[in-house]
Amino acid sequence: MRSSNSLTPALDAIGTAMDQRFDRLLPIPGDGRDRLYAGMRHAAIGGGKRMRPLLVVAACDLFNVDRERALRVALAIECVHCYSLIHDDLPCMDDDDLRRGKPTVHKAFDEATAVLAGDSLHALAFEILADPATHADPSARAELVLELARASGPSGMAGGQMMDLAAAENEFDLTATTRLQQLKTGALIGFCLEAGAIMGHIPDDRRTPLRGYAHDLGLAFQIADDLLDVEGSSDKTGKAVHKDAAAGKATFVSLLGVDRARTQAGMLIDQAIDHLHSYGSEADLLRAIARFAIERDF
Ligand code: IPE
Ligand code: IPE
Ligand code: MG
Ligand code: MG
Ligand code: MG
Repeated sequence: MRSSNSLTPALDAIGTAMDQRFDRLLPIPGDGRDRLYAGMRHAAIGGGKRMRPLLVVAACDLFNVDRERALRVALAIECVHCYSLIHDDLPCMDDDDLRRGKPTVHKAFDEATAVLAGDSLHALAFEILADPATHADPSARAELVLELARASGPSGMAGGQMMDLAAAENEFDLTATTRLQQLKTGALIGFCLEAGAIMGHIPDDRRTPLRGYAHDLGLAFQIADDLLDVEGSSDKTGKAVHKDAAAGKATFVSLLGVDRARTQAGMLIDQAIDHLHSYGSEADLLRAIARFAIERDF
């Protein structure tokens, strides 16, 4: 059983909203693609903390963005996140059998289905963002597409995943590991906050606090993930634990040890919250998400 916390109602609500939208996005077509859609539904529906979608909604709420439009952006980032997890679990990457408490897509289906389900969710994310229903202004839609492409590709998540694999072969120091984590995990989290600013037509020079918050949250979030690999339980996280050390992953925990890594994560979250000082209670949800990111046990 997962423990509950002050964010539980918000996480439950965004979880339901995402499940409903994925259900509508991914109807089984009744043709030769049924297995592909079933694989996508398996990965996308009924699991995950939905922290990135909640970040999008929290950032959009700062700027009074229409909720339905914000939820479209939330769905798009969760599509990319689910795709990244499907591919991350493949035998050629982390080779994991359990994800969100269920068999991974290549286990429940097969590797080809897992590759194509990931590819399809990746593409669907951009289709959602480019649709006029997401924003009336074409330049805002173009900016969303540009920023998600940057955050997902070689300068973002995919590049970080490559570094994560390279780190198993080479020594990575704290500087290299920080960059790895920023790309692998920080970039998609950064998109969530940037998307709020884009949706709200906020000029570049007013985005600095959100960028600082995202930067520190992204690093702390991955440290918490790495700590859960060492200290967490598979029952709660829904994925295998004790894998990173065996695979030779470069993490803050492998470099600093558990105690100093936890201290570092706490400092980063204090710093993330400090970045929001110019905001009032309208940023309380972002503050609560930041605390949750390191206090969670799943
Ligand atoms: C796991 O992300 C992969 C990382 C980037 C650390 P989450 O911990 O957000 O996974 P879900 O979405 O809750 O399953
Ligand atoms: C994966 O990091 C980050 C992604 C881009 C998917 P991990 O490999 O540590 O994520 P988990 O622990 O499998 O969820
Ligand atoms: Mg990995
Ligand atoms: Mg993994
Ligand atoms: Mg991990």
